[in-house]
Amino acid sequence: MREFIYYSRTAPTSGKHVGDDLMKSGRLDIAIHTVIASFFLSHGLRDDVKLHLSFAGPPDPVKHLEMMPNTEGKTGFDKIYLSKKDVSWVIKKMLYKYREGEKAEVFPGYWIEKKSFLKVVEELYDDNRNLYLLDEKGGDIRECKIGKDPVFILGDHLGLPGKELKRLKRICTPVSIGKRTYFASQTLAIVNNEIDRREDKGEL
Ligand SMILES: C[S@@+](CC[C@H](N)C(=O)[O-])C[C@H]1O[C@@H](n2cnc3c(N)ncnc32)[C@H](O)[C@@H]1O
Repeated sequence: MREFIYYSRTAPTSGKHVGDDLMKSGRLDIAIHTVIASFFLSHGLRDDVKLHLSFAGPPDPVKHLEMMPNTEGKTGFDKIYLSKKDVSWVIKKMLYKYREGEKAEVFPGYWIEKKSFLKVVEELYDDNRNLYLLDEKGGDIRECKIGKDPVFILGDHLGLPGKELKRLKRICTPVSIGKRTYFASQTLAIVNNEIDRREDKGEL
């Protein structure tokens, strides 16, 4: 299994703050593209990916939305039907269903709770997970050793915040997909492809 953590300092933290214009709604459009790049293949959803969205925008930061969509069973009971055009609806619904003091499962495989970005990362670090910081100045991902069940961390259009970045640099291996700065969703798609290829070759 692979995991991604996407941090957005502007993405909304309440359903009421999600408007029709997703760009004006704290750049929710970027988070949506990131969800699509995480899970969607041409003919189905990946069942080997978990995505953490860390939203730090107004009015009630920080919300941790965890997604690992169930792909088995009966639609409407064991899983929800997820199409690309529904992603904003799913996120909005998750934000509306947040309950103070709880980790609420909104749909099968979709949870929301209040938790800081660094806490999400630190918990995975404490579980001895292999953590990678996506950073254009890091080592070339094609040449880096990637450990089992890797976790990749990436930022939004503003990048990752300075204080958190300092800690991440101490506990994560920085990896790069090239010298150019890509969109978060493009970065994620390339990492998914790299991991797919390694798995196909039996290297992971
Ligand atoms: C649009 S970029 C962020 C640009 C932002 N101005 C900055 O300086 O960080 C979004 C995220 O994609 C990832 N990213 C973009 N280009 C990358 C690259 N060449 N290698 C690795 N990660 C990259 C980084 O994690 C970055 O935070």
